[in-house]
Amino acid sequence: MEYFTLNNGVKMPMLGFGTSNLKGIECQNAVKEAILVGYRHIDTASSYYNEKAVGRGIKESGINREELFITVKVWPSHYEEARKSIEDSFRRLQIEYADMAIVHHPCGNYDACYQTFEELYHEGKIKSIGLSNFSIPQIQHFLDNYEIKPTLVTVESHPYNSQYILQEYLEKYNIVLEAWYPLGHGDKKLINEPVILELSKKYHKSPVQILLRWHIQMDHSVLPSSKNLEHIKDNFSIFDFTIEREDMAKIAHLNNNQSYKVFDDEMWNKFLDWHPDFDDQE
Ligand SMILES: NC(=O)c1ccc[n+]([C@@H]2O[C@H](COP(=O)([O-])OP(=O)(O)OC[C@H]3O[C@@H](n4cnc5c(N)ncnc54)[C@H](OP(=O)(O)O)[C@@H]3O)[C@@H](O)[C@H]2O)c1
Repeated sequence: MEYFTLNNGVKMPMLGFGTSNLKGIECQNAVKEAILVGYRHIDTASSYYNEKAVGRGIKESGINREELFITVKVWPSHYEEARKSIEDSFRRLQIEYADMAIVHHPCGNYDACYQTFEELYHEGKIKSIGLSNFSIPQIQHFLDNYEIKPTLVTVESHPYNSQYILQEYLEKYNIVLEAWYPLGHGDKKLINEPVILELSKKYHKSPVQILLRWHIQMDHSVLPSSKNLEHIKDNFSIFDFTIEREDMAKIAHLNNNQSYKVFDDEMWNKFLDWHPDFDDQE
């Protein structure tokens, strides 16, 4: 495992386990197996509707809480009751603090959420604060107006969308860029790009391992998700090789700023209108 030291001194494993598409017993087992394989960073969110199963997987792994880095998120329609949202997440996940709390989307009253995060940070209930899907001017707003600075920004990223401009900006503030959809949401076209297959042969690693190693060498935190134990194991085995500089440059040529998920005003309004009962899950 390789680690970041966040801009507030907290240590964070670069590789995390994504949980958004996992449900019920499948989710519980995948989380448990991931931890047993060696993952120590688990990405969760109330909106994934699976925190209870994630919590059971963590518990069953038998690993001490202090060895794990757990991320929680607050959904936009809950920003004005962010404390309750975080407490509910802790109860479902069976944890007492989060290593990272993230404002999930840049819509609605995100300042209310951030203000509550600052209080929870001072109380020791969250150890660092992050932003998800926020733009550069929006990130600057938090840097200019708050005492506790964001430590991480999570956005869609993969070789088709390397996020160079955002990363250059974040580096000035020592803020980590975290890549969600690191495998293009499993897009076969990306995984089978000729350059990725060529490097897979050269380094004796699978195409997915090449993609994940590219993220690590780009200094991204990376959150692959999988239901499949073999994939979970393979995705962890990315710290025993280095992609040479000229090969990193070949992968860079794939960048075309493509997004699999496009957020617009219609989507933000939908998010704000969604008032789910996150307790209603297995
Ligand atoms: N903050 C946000 O707004 C946001 C938005 C979206 C996602 N996320 C986070 O990012 C995480 C990752 O997103 P994602 O799961 O949608 O996309 P992803 O990790 O890019 O791709 C997952 C897909 O890749 C496949 N896969 C994984 N490992 C593989 C391997 N070794 N070989 C072949 N196929 C493999 C999986 O299938 P199998 O299950 O069959 O392995 C699955 O279909 C989420 O779980 C979530 O934690 C955050």
